[in-house]
Order: sequence, then structure tokens, then C-alpha cells
Amino acid sequence: KPPLRIGIAGLGTVGAGVVKLLAEHGRLLSLRGGRPLKLVAVSARSKAKKRDIDLRGVRWEKDPLALAEASDLDVVIELIGGSGGIARQLVRKALASGKHVVTANKALLAMHGTELAELSEKKGRILAFEAAVAGGIPIIKALREGLVGNKVSRLYGILNGTCNYILTTMRETGRDFDVVLAEAQAAGYAEADPSFDVDGIDAAHKLAVLTGAAFGCQVNFEGVHVEGIRRVTSMDIQFAEELGYRIKLLGLARETRYGIEQRVHPCMVPLEAPIAHIEGVFNAVVVEGDFVGTTMFQGRGAGQGPTASAVVADLVDVARGRDMPAFVVPAAQLAAKKVAPIGRH
Ligand code: HSE
Repeated sequence: KPPLRIGIAGLGTVGAGVVKLLAEHGRLLSLRGGRPLKLVAVSARSKAKKRDIDLRGVRWEKDPLALAEASDLDVVIELIGGSGGIARQLVRKALASGKHVVTANKALLAMHGTELAELSEKKGRILAFEAAVAGGIPIIKALREGLVGNKVSRLYGILNGTCNYILTTMRETGRDFDVVLAEAQAAGYAEADPSFDVDGIDAAHKLAVLTGAAFGCQVNFEGVHVEGIRRVTSMDIQFAEELGYRIKLLGLARETRYGIEQRVHPCMVPLEAPIAHIEGVFNAVVVEGDFVGTTMFQGRGAGQGPTASAVVADLVDVARGRDMPAFVVPAAQLAAKKVAPIGRH
């Protein structure tokens, strides 16, 4: 079979990880995908930046949008980030010109997921975003495939590795929020704008995407009640502990008679609950389905390796030619199922 010809837009931590994974597991991936996965072109802001990856034989495009129109590509991986601007243009243009799209961009999907799903379907192309939510945990595939026979009643999880790392380290060391945040940034987990992490926005983006995939409803970031962890003190954490609870930033979505309720805020989680013990940069997602009961998924929610692992899983899906709706149901049906207004449940 002819190779799957890949273009990558954005060579930050994740992009470089994808290049490394493709190089290291080339043979294995061509067996598993049924055809070679070939990196043909890349585009990034700086060519000079030291990345420790081998790009010999790979075309360098100055303009990421050129990838969307290149006639020698089958799939574009969008790793630029941001909910609008270039990332959105690139994804729209790539789908419109008949390419499959793999993206790790939770902000973009949270804002425009329904619209992009519609476009991908209209064009008969795959829009895949396993890496957008919970890093290396294959939760989107779990919802779309393994759990697809269930009606989901509730879903909740630790969706931001930076916040979980901060809360864990504050508890273990008694150190202050700011000091620990700087460490998470140095480790490469934090968003470019760290307020997205600590104010709960990143978790809310991921929750909006998960809600769409779990309930087959509109992807609606505006409908998420959001509160972050800035005001949580070491003292709060110690007191909670004494009372038998651990403070976690959770994202939660559940079915109510007003629609799907979505919220992100710090929660007192009883120490008996398994999710209380997910620590550090790890994420976890609990899904309650009517036939399956309760299932929990855990793994690394951020970082180069885990996120690249998820991106490449989507590439293999594309290589295999698996045609699935982006969000569990055909795009036209997403809009019909509403999320609840904030505060109504
Ligand atoms: N800043 C995010 C986190 C990265 O800490 O979870 C992964 O989306």
C-alpha cells in the first residue's frame, strides 16, 4: 500500500515527540497501520531552534497553511495551539482540501468542535484528537469505541496535569503555590499561558471535548462552570486531609433534566475513592455507563512521550482508514443535544 504522507504544523514539545516516535517505531507502525507512515513536510516558527530530531529529507514549509494545500500530503497534524487564528484556519483549510486532520488542540475543539466535526464529515475526512484530552490516556477512543454501547450518565476526571502536580506537591512539601507552579513550568507540562492551567480553563476545554464525545452532544465551552486552584492553600490541603479528603481539581459532566451539566472546580474527594490517589502529572477519567458500570482510566496527562503516543495512535487510525464520527454520533446530531446553562441542574 502507498505510504500515508504526513505534514506536521508546530514543532514544540509534542511535535518533536511525534517526529521521534515515527522515527523510532517506523517499522512497527507500518505493520500496525498496514502501510508506512511517512513524514513528508513540517512547519514551525523557528527553524534554528534546537530540537534533537532528525529532519533530513523532510520539507520545511515557512507557512503552515501551505501544508493544508500541499498535494503530496494525506494528513495534517495541527500542533500549533490556540482556539482561533492560524490553527483554526489550518484545520479548516486542510479538511476543505480533502486532508485528514489530527490535532492535539483542545482549545480549538472546545470552541469549534461541532463545526469542525461537521466539516470533516461533509468532506468525508477524519478529524481525530486523542491527544487533546488527558495526554496519553486513550479516552476518546474508549468513548467512541469500547464504551459505545452505553448511555453515559456521568463522567469526571483529573484533566490538568499541571494542577494535579501543584496540588500533590503542595500537599507533600507544604510549599506555596507559586513556587510549585514554577517547577511545573520548568518541567514542560504547563500551557504557554499558565493561567489556562491554574484557572481551570485548560481542564474546561478538555471537559467540553469529553462531554461531546461521551454524550454525543454539542461541544460547548461556554456552558462549563469554571473555577481554578489559585485560592487553594497548603492549609486547606492539610485540613482536608485530616478530615479524610484530598483536594483535586475535577472536571465533571452529567445528564440532568436541563441538559448536560458541565463544571470544573476544586473538589474534596474522599480518600476511599481511587481518584483521590492519582497524583502528580497523572490524569484520570471515570466514566459511568448504564451497562458497563463504572470504569476508570489513568495515565500521564501531559508531556512529550504520552502526548506523542496519542497523536500517533490517531495517525495509525487514519492509515488503517477507519471512518468514524469525530464525536461518537454523526456531526449533524451533535447540535440537537444541548448542554445545561451554567447553574441549572
Ligand atoms: N497543560 C496541560 C496539563 C498539558 O498540564 O495537563 C496537557 O494538555
